[in-house]
Amino acid sequence: MLYNAPRGTRDILPDETRLWQYVEDKFRSVCDRFAYEEIRIPTFEHTEVFLRSVGETTDVVQKEMYTFDDKSGRSLTLRPEGTAGVARSFIEQGMSSNPYPVRLYYLLNLFRYERVGKGRYREFNQFGVEAFGSGEPDMDAEVIALADLFFAELGLKRRLHINSIGCPECRGEYQKLLYEYYLPHAAELCPDCQQRLERNPLRLIDCKVESCRAISRSAPRLLDYLDEDCRAHFDRVLEFLRSLGIEYTIDKDIVRGLDYYTKTVFEFVSENVGTQGTICGGGRYDTLIETMGGEEVPGVGFALGVERLLMELEAQGCLPELAQYPDLFIALQTEAAGAAAAGLALELRRRGLRVVSEVCGRSLRAQLKQADRSAARWVLVLGGNELETGTAELRQMESGERLTVNWCDAAAVWQEIKENKDAN
Ligand code: HAM
Repeated sequence: MLYNAPRGTRDILPDETRLWQYVEDKFRSVCDRFAYEEIRIPTFEHTEVFLRSVGETTDVVQKEMYTFDDKSGRSLTLRPEGTAGVARSFIEQGMSSNPYPVRLYYLLNLFRYERVGKGRYREFNQFGVEAFGSGEPDMDAEVIALADLFFAELGLKRRLHINSIGCPECRGEYQKLLYEYYLPHAAELCPDCQQRLERNPLRLIDCKVESCRAISRSAPRLLDYLDEDCRAHFDRVLEFLRSLGIEYTIDKDIVRGLDYYTKTVFEFVSENVGTQGTICGGGRYDTLIETMGGEEVPGVGFALGVERLLMELEAQGCLPELAQYPDLFIALQTEAAGAAAAGLALELRRRGLRVVSEVCGRSLRAQLKQADRSAARWVLVLGGNELETGTAELRQMESGERLTVNWCDAAAVWQEIKENKDAN
């Protein structure tokens, strides 16, 4: 029987994992410089956690969650996003008594039952940050600056799109306006939007169905109905961005697909013509912690899709060459040399070299072919003669240079290889 990976999931093989490690290291390094600390949360949560936070009228909750009952009948859901679980943890672990702001970052795999397509998977990965405890525009700017520095250090061309969707107060008024705007068009809306109209009209702005989009084009936008406080907050965020030299486009169409957002919402999109899709999305969520049963603690964060990021980096020619070559391949002329080779290899690895020794019982010819294929820098052959004399020939593959070394003296072998490595 042949098994395939489930639709929307994928294997990431070594040539690619090196690139993943490269972006992971970069993300950790940027977070570290902003003094954010890593949080790890469970892969699944009580379903209620997502219903409460992400929102019952969102596509994520209505169509995309992997929800199941466990053997004791509890409803659990594989995390479709990170913010809800981090917020649950913030409350449960009493982080509101930590010094503010609480700055957290994460690297997570997530699960959404989505239509699979380019850059859209059912299991995918995000890097994200969440900052709790400051409602100031300074905090929004910090979070955006963190994402922007990460992209800049990877060399990615990107554009920040930003909007404000106000607070629940300004939104209440606006929702009424939206309802009145869409009502005469109700019959032309898709079945989902007909439901959304009654339950959460804001979601209509985000609908991807062409007939709904056509109607939404002239719908009123929240940015034009902000109250004074939300307007001032947004203006301050923009001021910060200008002073930090972060270019942006005000984009009244961004409402984001999750219910917890308030005030600032933003997305980073690629500047690459021909590809589309949002790499990173985020925003402020000042009522989330309270909605989930915690204290009144404001928050802001973002998450970026790692698969999409890598696709974009590749398309823009920003991925480095990361092939890994062994420093040394130890080939065996006789079976008896196996233990000596293993001992020497271990000693050299202790000293930091990348060493491969023969373990498949191949002929010397086959071993040398293998050494060549692996692009090992040096080859050392051990056999009866070498075991007797304690000396062996260290051959540099590229130049053909040969050195006689006392192979029993791992430090000497290490020195030769290292010197050469440093010189290159
Ligand atoms: P989101 O916009 O749902 O936001 O997802 C953020 C990013 O994850 C997207 O911009 C995209 O790059 C990537 N992504 C989403 N779905 C998929 C998929 N099916 N396949 C591949 N990549 C995908 C959130 O998840 C919020 N929790 C972000 C946030 C954090 N807001 C505040 N804090």
